[in-house]
Amino acid sequence: MSSGCPVSQPNEDWDPLAAKNHADPTDVYTRLRDECPVAWSDRFGGFYALTRFKDVTESALDWHTFTSAQKTPIPDATSPDRPPRAPAEVDPPFHTAYRDLLNRFFTPEYIRRIEPVIRRTARDLIGRCVSLGEVDAVASFTFYMPIQVQCIFLGISVEDADRIKTTINRIIDAGAAGDTETHKAANDDIYDYIYQVLATRKKAPHDPNDLISAMIYEEVDGRRLTDDDIAGTIRLFLQAGHGTTTNMLGSIIRHVAENSEDQKRLRNEPKLIPQAIEEMLRVWTPVRLVGRKTTRDVEIEGRTIPQGSRVGLMVSAANLDERKFDHADKVDFDRKPNPHIAFGFGPHRCVGASLAREQLRIAAEELLSMTDDFELTGEPEASTWTHLGPSKLPVRFVPRSVDLTGSVIRAGYRELVMNIAAVRDVAEATREIELRANEDAELPEWTAGAHIDLVLPGEIIRSYSLVDGPSDRTCWRIAVLREENGRGGSAMIHTLKAGDQVRVRWPRNKFALEDAEGYHFFASGIGITPILPMIEEAQQRGVPWRLDYVGRTRDRLAYLDRLEGHEQVRVHPTSEHGRPELDMLVAASDERSAIYACGSQGFLLGVEEAAERAGRNLHAEWFAPKPGARQAAAGSHEAFTVHLQRSDVDVSVQPGQSIIDACAEAGVTIPAACFEGTCSSCLSTVLEGVPDHRDSFLSPKERESGMLMAPCVSKSMTERLVLDW
Ligand code: HEM
Ligand code: FES
Repeated sequence: MSSGCPVSQPNEDWDPLAAKNHADPTDVYTRLRDECPVAWSDRFGGFYALTRFKDVTESALDWHTFTSAQKTPIPDATSPDRPPRAPAEVDPPFHTAYRDLLNRFFTPEYIRRIEPVIRRTARDLIGRCVSLGEVDAVASFTFYMPIQVQCIFLGISVEDADRIKTTINRIIDAGAAGDTETHKAANDDIYDYIYQVLATRKKAPHDPNDLISAMIYEEVDGRRLTDDDIAGTIRLFLQAGHGTTTNMLGSIIRHVAENSEDQKRLRNEPKLIPQAIEEMLRVWTPVRLVGRKTTRDVEIEGRTIPQGSRVGLMVSAANLDERKFDHADKVDFDRKPNPHIAFGFGPHRCVGASLAREQLRIAAEELLSMTDDFELTGEPEASTWTHLGPSKLPVRFVPRSVDLTGSVIRAGYRELVMNIAAVRDVAEATREIELRANEDAELPEWTAGAHIDLVLPGEIIRSYSLVDGPSDRTCWRIAVLREENGRGGSAMIHTLKAGDQVRVRWPRNKFALEDAEGYHFFASGIGITPILPMIEEAQQRGVPWRLDYVGRTRDRLAYLDRLEGHEQVRVHPTSEHGRPELDMLVAASDERSAIYACGSQGFLLGVEEAAERAGRNLHAEWFAPKPGARQAAAGSHEAFTVHLQRSDVDVSVQPGQSIIDACAEAGVTIPAACFEGTCSSCLSTVLEGVPDHRDSFLSPKERESGMLMAPCVSKSMTERLVLDW
């Protein structure tokens, strides 16, 4: 029987990399399914492509004939000097036993544990896109989220995510380009990193809830796994989980941005999101094919595939097969049932599907809830083989307009609904917001250096210093810099206008002004805000003070008018005079004065180093985590138990999970705002055990006391911690 393939050139039925077939392969897939369902391509060393749903699923089930155990990826991205990466590169029965061990980490219960941290990852990244307005959504969002989630899932430091992703991308690109030298070098880099992770994890006792620990200590098919086995699997996870999800996220954003009716529908019916995602997975399947090798001659659709041939099971083409799906090319959010095979079929079906679905759902929910609209602003570019999806996606995000009514008091927080009495610009990109309580009621007391938290739609919480002196009990003022690269909160606040309402949490102070014989204040940019009430306080106490105030240009320095006439104020616009010499400034200050600093990360690091060189103490307020603050201390536990004394519950904290998230699951909500160890709103009293501090605000003295910790980021040096909650 003839295969019916219209062979256009000797030996070649189609070229997957031809421009007309690559970015949108819908037409070529239709042609192949109809006219050449078993197609040969010379690309990647030559392979057969199966494109009909029936052929792809039947072959995926028949692992005896279509093995995964013989270097099957197309192109071959395996490493000649490394053992096979289980479970993808092994067949049953070892495959089945291996999957039994892995599958338990992908149950809904297990994935639900890390939902809060996935949501925060999404919010932070989307928030940054929203605050920038117009971005390449791949470079700013979809590139980062899956690898960060993968790190969290595996209990690996998120600070390493960029390095991992860049190295894996070097491997993928070199594989597609056939550049074996770069492929090997990048592969060696990632393996070196993985062996370091493994060595650290092996020092900790067996934790059955930690995937890497389970691979170290448990048996598969009657034997303990070798380091090489485990490293291969970690390597597989780091690669399998991110390119796929990155491309799928991009395709979802692209579809919803381009189809305003679908976008409107998802905004109005968020419950439809999971079903809509399944349909987009079907039409925009990010994995074009999965590779196999034939162990015997096999005939499909009248064409014989010889033994030892590479075969691509084109899941992306099968998902568009009219023989299986009505109007297969059309995205239909109401399609039910939807038996697509975007996650594969048969024994090798994607082990990470539940984690991928959770990420896609959360990302879509956050995208829709943090924006009023988003649309494409240019032509997307296509990812390289084997993925399908955008590698560049120019999108404009319109921030969600703030629209609040009613008063909400939530357990654990004291909250007010306040009226926006006035807004005014106090510097370039900096807006002052005046807040008044209803009916001008008297506001709670506060002290210089205090913050309030604004609770924005979607429970996005942002902390801002109060800028007036504590004596005014009728109104509060904050000043908010619209951060070009922020997390979306400042962009939302800049949409506020007089007459709007906003939820506000009561003031708290982690930057209090201690008694001293004098004060030397350092501020950069918006870091002036907590310093202003401190100056007022110092004036009232009659204590000498001085201020060094640094910023790019005078136009960007807020409240210069208030500081005029004080000869102890020195303004340093760096565009005029360059960066000030911080060592000299610190040296010029009276040794009896206390040094207080607030501002950007780089500025604070500079002041900290200058103070250290001068042997002086520094009180600093960090807006972003201190570099390196989140690194684990030697001997720190990733998995441990926290006993909450007042609630009388034991909470088990898992690798990649924060204490706050674990407590929330156990029903105890610890107040929190930044979730990155800078704002202090989660500050907790430690009754027993030793914390591994990873915050950026506790002073060395506070750390030494062993009595306080920030459970949003910190972990434990002991197997058990007791907290006063
Ligand atoms: C939208 C996102 C994803 C898609 C479309 C996808 C798709 C697939 C497909 C089609 C396969 C089958 C391979 C084969 O038959 O040879 C697969 C396998 C696999 N996937 Fe995914 N995947 C996604 C996300 C993830 C994530 C997040 C993880 C990790 C947490 C992951 C880990 C794996 C692993 C380890 C395998 C090998 C399973 C085996 O051979 O038994 N994937 N994936
Ligand atoms: S929530 Fe901000 S420090 Fe913990």
